[in-house]
Amino acid sequence: MDKATRLKIAVQKTGRLTDNSLDLLQRCGLKYSRGKDQLMLFGENMPLDVLLVRDDDIPDLVQEDVCDLGIVGLNVVEEARLGLLARGVAPLFEKLQLLDFGRCHLALAVPEATPYAGASSLNGKRIATTYPNILADYLARHGVKAEIVTLSGAVEIAPRLGRADLICDLVSSGSTLAANHLREVETILDSQAALIRTPVPLSQAKQDWVHRLLMRVDGVQQVKESKYIMLHAPRSALPQIARLLPGSEFPTIIPLEGTTDKVAVHAVCRENVFWETLESLKAAGASSVLVLPVEKMLA
Ligand code: PRP
Ligand code: ZN
Repeated sequence: MDKATRLKIAVQKTGRLTDNSLDLLQRCGLKYSRGKDQLMLFGENMPLDVLLVRDDDIPDLVQEDVCDLGIVGLNVVEEARLGLLARGVAPLFEKLQLLDFGRCHLALAVPEATPYAGASSLNGKRIATTYPNILADYLARHGVKAEIVTLSGAVEIAPRLGRADLICDLVSSGSTLAANHLREVETILDSQAALIRTPVPLSQAKQDWVHRLLMRVDGVQQVKESKYIMLHAPRSALPQIARLLPGSEFPTIIPLEGTTDKVAVHAVCRENVFWETLESLKAAGASSVLVLPVEKMLA
């Protein structure tokens, strides 16, 4: 394996981002085979290998140039960034692109019966978290003096065990909080998956592949919601129909053999197309409406 030409990307081994991360790489065209140790996926048709690791390790692996790229939540990126700053080290990994999956947020949550009246009620409290740096930054910005109880996991049971008065933890569906009778009171950070890269300049060959990967990621994101619509419409209804096509800039108008007052309209809609839209199109005079998925798109 030639370090000068093959890119290495760090991806969460098991967790909320794993499936979506690998799915994204596959949609970008990557075919891979698994290494024996289950730690590496070797790219077969692209000079790109995947290292499967704990998500919390990804910013450091990229910062230290063990990996060229990483897919990781903004929550983990921000925690690592503030941690490095606290140790006097400049965080050097660069955020390249937001990936629009793995959405969740970091929140303060109190036991259901505990009253909460704004950040000042946090004074003197013990807050359990696996995000001590983000929490410390939040408390400092709000002029709050509270004790941070840093845990490595199972934060949600800390109040019941008497280890903390409240918690600062990641929430996505909210079911962990509900199951533990905790009530969300404050959002500290909104998160989603992001692509990050090493600060170290890459060889031209690697740089070219990073560029291609970014273009493909962009294409994947664009087609996710995109649909191709085909319909027949009376010429007189064209302005109204164009307005109804969601997120499409320039519909293609095609004459129909044997008629002058009807045309075919083809358009890429960069938003989901709902039944309501189709019903409105029909009411506006459209007929033979077809909605097709878009497989790939390159701007
Ligand atoms: C987070 C958090 C909760 C859970 C919340 O852990 O610590 O346990 O997710 O999700 P919910 O609102 O859908 O119930 P995560 O799985 O991200 O583990 P990690 O921090 O170890 O990566
Ligand atoms: Zn983690």
